Amino acid sequence: MPEVTFIQDDGQVTKVQAENGQSILQIALDNGIPMEHACGGNGFCTTCMCNVESGMEHLSPRNDREEAMGIIEDPARLSCQSEVNGDVTVKVIEY
Ligand code: FES
Repeated sequence: MPEVTFIQDDGQVTKVQAENGQSILQIALDNGIPMEHACGGNGFCTTCMCNVESGMEHLSPRNDREEAMGIIEDPARLSCQSEVNGDVTVKVIEY
């Protein structure tokens, strides 16, 4: 079972268990971690962008939506388009 670690702007660190195939956004929202998601998790905004501190290899590959939105360089990913299959640490970007 993947463990996802969220680091928030204020330095708060939260570790949660997730199911394989869940998106980072869904995991955050399910665990009460604030994460913007203006387009509802459909890959049409960039408000859910996060920085992957470790475990990029445990995320689904970048998809067309991320590339269309210009999220093409590490460590940035769209949380709603990134599915976990192993342990990951992400820095939440707050606006
Ligand atoms: S919530 Fe809009 S791109 Fe992820």
